[in-house]
Amino acid sequence: MSGRGNDQRKDQSEVRVPIRQLPTGVPGLDEILGGGLPEYSFNIIAGAPGCGKTTLAHQIMFATATPERPALYFTVLGEPAIKMLRYQQQFGFFDHATMAASIRFINLSHLVMEQDLGAVLDAIMKEIETSNAGIVVVDSFRTVVRKALNGLSEMELQGFVQRLALHLTSWQATTFLIGEYVEGELRDNPVFTVADGLFWLYQNVERNSIVRKMQVMKLRGQESVPGMHTFRITDAGLQTFPRTFGLVGQSGQVKGQRRLSTGVSELDELMGGGIPEGDSLLLAGPSGSGKSTLGTQFIAEGLRQGEPGIVAVFEEIPAEYAQRAAMFGFDFDTPQRMASSRSSISVRWTSPSMRRSTRSSTALRRSAASDWSLTRWSASRWRWPPASALTSASRCTA
Ligand SMILES: Nc1ncnc2c1ncn2[C@@H]1O[C@H](COP(=O)(O)OP(=O)(O)OP(=O)(O)O)[C@@H](O)[C@H]1O
Ligand SMILES: [Mg+2]
Repeated sequence: MSGRGNDQRKDQSEVRVPIRQLPTGVPGLDEILGGGLPEYSFNIIAGAPGCGKTTLAHQIMFATATPERPALYFTVLGEPAIKMLRYQQQFGFFDHATMAASIRFINLSHLVMEQDLGAVLDAIMKEIETSNAGIVVVDSFRTVVRKALNGLSEMELQGFVQRLALHLTSWQATTFLIGEYVEGELRDNPVFTVADGLFWLYQNVERNSIVRKMQVMKLRGQESVPGMHTFRITDAGLQTFPRTFGLVGQSGQVKGQRRLSTGVSELDELMGGGIPEGDSLLLAGPSGSGKSTLGTQFIAEGLRQGEPGIVAVFEEIPAEYAQRAAMFGFDFDTPQRMASSRSSISVRWTSPSMRRSTRSSTALRRSAASDWSLTRWSASRWRWPPASALTSASRCTA
């Protein structure tokens, strides 16, 4: 019995069609998706105005389009294509050579105005059929435009999007539909049922800061990382910070057995030799109790032992931090100029707006992991320590 069962399983795995995963070109996103974007999937990118939908689609398109399998980008009634391109050209991922050889922008807004949605659908289908498109993006209606379309009922519009979605899902291309949806529509709008992938982008105000988040609500065929992931938009485009902090697939990694000296011998003695390497340590206490000083001593001790370090400072500029260290007899200026040496430190000021996001800790952790084999940290005056984010002998004063 079990022999036959094994044979059946083997037969099934032999006939299983592998799904190729496309690298998205968005730092961190492949990890969130569980390896990359499934080829030939139909995806919806949803979110409120200005949350980064168009930029995300462009970045993926520039990373995946080739002259053999070009990308088609349709604008229906959103941003005019010329205007959109003027903005998108500002991003680092925008490459004129790729654009010329592998990407076509097609503006269909005149068809909506002069004819009807049926003509729009026909035009999209014709373009896709006559090209060998590997990537198709339809940057669709904005909520405000929906209302402005005279004589067009919400039902007609929904019917159009539904038909478009059915086409997008059946072509041998990886497709995206961009829409300004609200979460209330999730239950009622059948377009979400048809989609293989659903990416929801958010832009939330937290105290005085804007925090951008992304959620992969579904992704058929592979295991993505559930939950909210922070992302940012810079001149380079989108950068995501998976909430797994790059630890996926690294569960077997064992922390070091060493103890790290705090720089205070009596304290080391009390702690059985120092802080276990790889631990995250929260140093808390009232104002003036010596938290920053101990953090500075810890970093200085690392320097003395040839262990590079990182200091993330939230409430003073790096030069002031180094000046204060000098008052205790520690030279933090010279090691800052020795970037690649083992006796170097990096003192970085981090924006207070990032205090509640995990993005700063992840960015620092990343740079630490790539630049140094061992990291000594002191996140000075970090009132919201995402302790789980700190790794490799990291210390945090609050
Ligand atoms: N160089 C940059 N640095 C930081 N943020 C930027 C930069 N360029 C653009 N942004 C941010 O990206 C946002 C625009 O992103 P995008 O156009 O992709 O959003 P969208 O979701 O498509 O918006 P819409 O619904 O209006 O079409 C801007 O509102 C701005 O906050
Ligand atoms: Mg847009």
